[in-house]
Amino acid sequence: MSDKATLEYNGRKYEFPVIKGSEDEFAIDIRSLRSSSGMITIDSGYKNTGSCESAITFLDGEKGMLRYRGYSIEDLAEKADFLEVAFLLIFGELPNEEQLDTFHNDIKAESHVDEEMKKILHGFPKSAHPMGVLSSLTSALIAFNPTSVNVKSEKEMYHAIIRILAKFPVLVAWCMRKKKGLPLDYGDDALGYVENLHKMMFKKPNKEYEKNKIVIDALDKLLILHADHEQNCSTSTVRIVGSSHAGLFVSLSAGISALWGPLHGGANQAVLEMLEAIAADGGDTKKYMAKAKDKNDPFRLMGFGHRVYKNFDPRAKIIKNAADEVLADLGIEDPILEVAKGLEKEALEDQYFVDRKLYPNVDFYSGIIYRALGIPTEMFTVMFAMGRLPGWIAQWREMRLNNEPIGRPRQVYVGETIRPFMPLDRR
Ligand code: CMC
Repeated sequence: MSDKATLEYNGRKYEFPVIKGSEDEFAIDIRSLRSSSGMITIDSGYKNTGSCESAITFLDGEKGMLRYRGYSIEDLAEKADFLEVAFLLIFGELPNEEQLDTFHNDIKAESHVDEEMKKILHGFPKSAHPMGVLSSLTSALIAFNPTSVNVKSEKEMYHAIIRILAKFPVLVAWCMRKKKGLPLDYGDDALGYVENLHKMMFKKPNKEYEKNKIVIDALDKLLILHADHEQNCSTSTVRIVGSSHAGLFVSLSAGISALWGPLHGGANQAVLEMLEAIAADGGDTKKYMAKAKDKNDPFRLMGFGHRVYKNFDPRAKIIKNAADEVLADLGIEDPILEVAKGLEKEALEDQYFVDRKLYPNVDFYSGIIYRALGIPTEMFTVMFAMGRLPGWIAQWREMRLNNEPIGRPRQVYVGETIRPFMPLDRR
């Protein structure tokens, strides 16, 4: 097989190297295209464009396969905890016991947030969506952690990473407590990372925090399943913002905003609202299937379809089973789960969905678990952000360590050509 690709245009031939990834993916390296031919490529939505070479996450959309640093998502979801996965994503290897202890202790040592941050939080009306609040608070953190990261210093890089891993769960919990009108709380160093997050979110002021293993295990699994997904919209945002050498926290804040959209992480909230609307409308799934297929109707079946997966999203498979288990373990019967299963069954047998290879994605069942865990619907995407945090950090770190150039796409201009200026009184 040739390791060069040839482009022929206007009687001239241009040759480009072909790069092969470690999982036999091929890419034409067009870095010299413009300088050799004067042309650029156009690819809206970047459907065919690789923005980087990355060693963090591999996914095969045709086979429905996902791996972090070479470990299958199935293995990690079953055998690892979220903090181990965070370490793996960011630093490349699973930690040994000593490394994990150090990592966790370093995080605990930074897990306070400047009191002034509470003023910012209180400045938001209670009606503010927690994703907007989280994005703003993450950005505001920079004011209280003024050292900009010298990425050439592993020590500084490590500290920036530790600081955000430590403070982010506090912000997540505060977003929810503000919404629920609960006093802002801090964590407990005796607890595990995810347990502590749960405690900070749910502890009632007049009650001891009660640990619930089923709840913590489910939350841990959900966070792992969301922890990275290569060059998706929010991750690409984090990388491109960071490529201007903006700091880690503001790059993350931009990623949170990108995640919020209903076509991306915001889909988990949209799914639950859709399922509730279908249930309230008598559970007529056929009516909504017809709406989803009608090109004149903007309605889409939320939680279905994916840019890369053209087969089952492996995360959706795990979450569907987990939803069954968690609801049974907690003794909850949620009629919404039946609506979801009914919709899934119909969609998988429907020619429109079969032809377009539209399968349930990670967001289809996650909201049902979040709801069973007592997490309000508006917080679902915040939980996604909590899970994605290590992935964003890992991708930002990789981009900076690889010294990638500033992200700056080109365009094909299709507007007016030069024309004379017309004074106001003659227009
Ligand atoms: N319901 C109905 N039709 C759909 C859906 C859907 N959910 N998703 C895609 N299609 C159709 C679409 O209309 C198009 O049809 P046609 O070829 O006839 O024009 C075809 O399938 C291809 O869709 P696309 O919009 O070109 O595909 P895309 O890769 O640009 O979009 C997507 C991917 C995830 C944005 C899209 O499938 C979608 O909007 N899904 C619903 C929102 C959702 O669940 N998002 C979460 C994604 S996974 C987690 C994450 O990224 O955070």
